[in-house]
Amino acid sequence: MRGKNIIIGICGGIAAYKTPQLVRVLKKAGANVRVALTDGGARFVSELALATVSQEAVYRNIFPPADTPETDYTHHISLGEWADALVIAPATANTLARLAAGLCDDMLTACFLTLRPGKPVLIFPAMDGQMFLSASVQRNIALLEKQGCLVFKPESGELASGQSGTGRMPEPETIHTHLEEALHSTQQESPLQGRSIVVTAGPTREKIDGVRYISNYSSGKMGFAIAGAAAKRGALVTLITGPVHLETPPGVKRIDVESALEMHAAARTFFQSCHIFIGAAAVADYRPAAPYERKMKKEAEEIEITLVKNPDILAEFSLQKSTKQLAIGFALEMQSDIDNARKKLESKQLDLIAFNFFDRKTSGFEVDTNILTLIERSGKTTELPQLTKHDAAERLLEVIEKQYGSKSPLHKNSR
Ligand SMILES: Cc1cc2nc3c(=O)[nH]c(=O)nc-3n(C[C@H](O)[C@H](O)[C@H](O)COP(=O)(O)O)c2cc1C
Repeated sequence: MRGKNIIIGICGGIAAYKTPQLVRVLKKAGANVRVALTDGGARFVSELALATVSQEAVYRNIFPPADTPETDYTHHISLGEWADALVIAPATANTLARLAAGLCDDMLTACFLTLRPGKPVLIFPAMDGQMFLSASVQRNIALLEKQGCLVFKPESGELASGQSGTGRMPEPETIHTHLEEALHSTQQESPLQGRSIVVTAGPTREKIDGVRYISNYSSGKMGFAIAGAAAKRGALVTLITGPVHLETPPGVKRIDVESALEMHAAARTFFQSCHIFIGAAAVADYRPAAPYERKMKKEAEEIEITLVKNPDILAEFSLQKSTKQLAIGFALEMQSDIDNARKKLESKQLDLIAFNFFDRKTSGFEVDTNILTLIERSGKTTELPQLTKHDAAERLLEVIEKQYGSKSPLHKNSR
């Protein structure tokens, strides 16, 4: 906790009366604490008390008051960038909705949006028990959790309304413990922090004519999970994706493409500069040689479509990569064809290949789980159990972290 920069976001709930004590507890533990107070919060706890215990001005409005000469007009960005963690306590139903919707109408919501990827956000909702259980509040909590926020269920006990139930904000000492744990788990700096990682995902569409294409069943879920897991580790992630119905993971730069040739063109621009290239897309091996611009008429009994080979994007990167770059691929094969994956690893000179098979129930395209076998260049093979694609992505990233860390021990200075 010592030397860590912590923002405490305080909203308009009765539990706000506990927050000067929370500031004191964190200051005593050695943290630098700044407070972002909502207008609602200011109705319950005084700005003066918070400024006094934090020994810092309290942040409230994005727009500086007209009568005070302001020299820094970018607090709404720099405060979030400054923070190692954001603690929102108490979090009201109203602010949960603002955060989930991505609003940016005060300093607290601005901090939430500008916090660096990988920095923990701890949210402590506190409100009437019935309000907490309402469908809207639960939906907003689910959305925030999906974005990686740590949302702590309120405690049970006597509520300010005089009733008993779930809704209480934990005591400052308990919040301190949760914060320490969250900081500890993100503290071990990943060797991927600040590194440029390109992930390809999804299927490609290969045009037959103006209205038809050849494609495959790839959903993009595995590649998106990998991109999200890499961004959480502080990597600068570019996700080049074919047509999918997925939300972009937080902190990830997304480039949408359609065909293998478009994916190839987008990927090539990163071949020199990226540190790690992860080919998780199901790029079509072939494309129609001469796609028809307009709609083909249903006249002939038979038609022939000549297919030509598409570029092998991952192999092209891998065969020209420098000794400091890593190339990671996927091999979707029949369950018994793990040797094919090994051959691909060799022929494409990959650093790691993730073998998975295809049964459409537990592994492969479309489903939410995967069973990966990770084969490294050294021959080391790790068989993972059936995991959600998010957990499988975490495990893959752990292996990549080890490989990248050993390839580039002075990773901060390497290309
Ligand atoms: C006496 C009183 C107590 C309140 N307590 C809570 C509370 O514990 N939790 C909550 O979500 N809203 C509570 N509210 C409602 C919020 O103050 C209101 O929704 C406000 O707009 C929140 O603003 P903010 O989210 O910007 O801080 C309370 C309102 C009053 C008048």
